[in-house]
Amino acid sequence: MEGHPPGYSGVSDYVYKIFPNDLNSQDTVFGGTILSLLDRIALVVAERHSGKVCVTVSIDAVHFLAPAKKGENLIIKASINNAWNSSMEIGLKVISENGFTKEQKHIVSAYFTFVAVDVEGKPTRVPRVLPESPPEMQRFEEANHRRSHRIRGNKERAELRKTFSKEVP
Ligand SMILES: CC(C)(COP(=O)(O)OP(=O)(O)OC[C@H]1O[C@@H](n2cnc3c(N)ncnc32)[C@H](O)[C@@H]1OP(=O)(O)O)[C@@H](O)C(=O)NCCC(=O)NCCS
Repeated sequence: MEGHPPGYSGVSDYVYKIFPNDLNSQDTVFGGTILSLLDRIALVVAERHSGKVCVTVSIDAVHFLAPAKKGENLIIKASINNAWNSSMEIGLKVISENGFTKEQKHIVSAYFTFVAVDVEGKPTRVPRVLPESPPEMQRFEEANHRRSHRIRGNKERAELRKTFSKEVP
């Protein structure tokens, strides 16, 4: 199966205007609203890259670095970092922007993993990612590193669960 460069599926500047119904009691944007938005945008990237129906399998390393405030705009960038057999890692960056002064700050970074599924909901193969620029190559390699950590973490959690299931009747 051939591949695509990250530019084939990426979202470069999705703009979301913050309204009062997006805010928490501190008048800053509710984190769950941002996560929901990121999940939708990352899904678009995964489905553009794979050409298949995709589901979110995990979200890791979500960092809320600064709050976004009432009246600001969110600018979201999303791009595929790497793809393996059926899974793909999508990296996202959220910037908040004062719509009048255009002052910007980086407020969230996150990595989402999606799996492409067939009509029965079973994992199915996806095209490779073909990085072109040095930053794309760096993201590609870093994603391999995170995948190894995820696989190791999943195995360790499965082992731990087995220990508990022996103890709990
Ligand atoms: C996603 C799903 C189809 C995977 O099925 P599965 O039987 O666990 O499949 P496998 O164990 O063969 O793993 C398939 C791929 O997912 C990856 N994967 C599985 N669990 C993972 C996790 N927690 N984090 C990251 N990747 C994971 C595997 O590494 C594998 O990647 P590869 O094919 O690129 O090598 C299944 O877990 C599922 O349906 N989950 C619910 C998804 C969902 O409802 N999402 C929310 C709404 S969209």
